[in-house]
Amino acid sequence: MFTLGSCVVRRLGYGVMQLAGPGAFGPQADHATALAVLREAVALGVNHIDTSDFYGPHVTNRLIRKALHPYPDDLVIATKVGAQRGPDSSWRRAVSRQDLLQAVHNNLRNLGLNVLDVVNLRAMFDGHGPAEGSIDGPLTALAELQRQGLIRHIGLSNVTPAQIAEGRKICQVICVQNPYNLAHRVDDAVIDDLAGSGTAYVPCFPLGGLPLQSSTLSDVAQSLSAAPVQVAIAWLLHRAPNILLIPGTSSVVHLRQNLAAATVALPEQALAALAQASAKASERADQPAV
Ligand SMILES: NC(=O)c1ccc[n+]([C@@H]2O[C@H](COP(=O)([O-])OP(=O)(O)OC[C@H]3O[C@@H](n4cnc5c(N)ncnc54)[C@H](OP(=O)(O)O)[C@@H]3O)[C@@H](O)[C@H]2O)c1
Repeated sequence: MFTLGSCVVRRLGYGVMQLAGPGAFGPQADHATALAVLREAVALGVNHIDTSDFYGPHVTNRLIRKALHPYPDDLVIATKVGAQRGPDSSWRRAVSRQDLLQAVHNNLRNLGLNVLDVVNLRAMFDGHGPAEGSIDGPLTALAELQRQGLIRHIGLSNVTPAQIAEGRKICQVICVQNPYNLAHRVDDAVIDDLAGSGTAYVPCFPLGGLPLQSSTLSDVAQSLSAAPVQVAIAWLLHRAPNILLIPGTSSVVHLRQNLAAATVALPEQALAALAQASAKASERADQPAV
């Protein structure tokens, strides 16, 4: 369990992006399975779901509401604001005061909530990855919405260490959501720094977007009678106590497999082999190969 602001969540949660259509745009073809995945996640104990109203747009939040409302008392739904989708599926940075107000109200309406548990400000200065640029204006606007009672907690996504430091001067930052996995470890120092203050680090693409491929991962998985994705998840859980996981899937079978990774223990030998492969992959810096 991990204390996320005023909430307590299991470290292994669920990210809903795969429940929208391809490229997180439009609806998914299999509506019934999407609802089943969400219900199964909660039935199996997930109490931390990551979403955004720009998935679809509006698709995943409406699915969450349809599948799970009225929500269990302990369910924490974390969302993201700061981007919009065009009708052609393009992405647009959307961080004006008006954009953020609209995004918060869209999330509230589509999720059927009066207050959002966690809202991540997703920075978008150079495409989708972290890039420098001041977040002062949008984060100040979001903090104002928090003071108005529309948001319980604020987090940051796709941010650099400088932006985390800037953000901490404006409001309490309870989590950071950046790309990180066995093969992409740019944020190692960020994770350790956040661990010192009990701030959650939530890797997006924990499985590498597409499942990571590696002979080491496969060998370790085989030796433990586990699946490679389970080893990738178990490694992240082992990596630092402040890591919260939101692996994405559109499949009930994969969801069960991913959640079962909580019981996969990694012996010292496996950790050493993974560390070596991971270091090599990080040096290459081009994922998803470990
Ligand atoms: N802040 C941001 O900018 C940002 C960006 C991206 C994502 N996110 C968040 O992070 C969450 C996770 O990211 P993600 O879904 O893009 O990537 P991910 O979790 O790294 O990987 C998802 C991919 O792995 C596959 N997969 C999942 N479990 C599997 C299993 N047991 N066996 C085989 N394949 C499996 C999924 O396919 P199937 O559907 O077939 O299982 C899907 O293709 C998202 O849901 C979203 O909430 C945030």
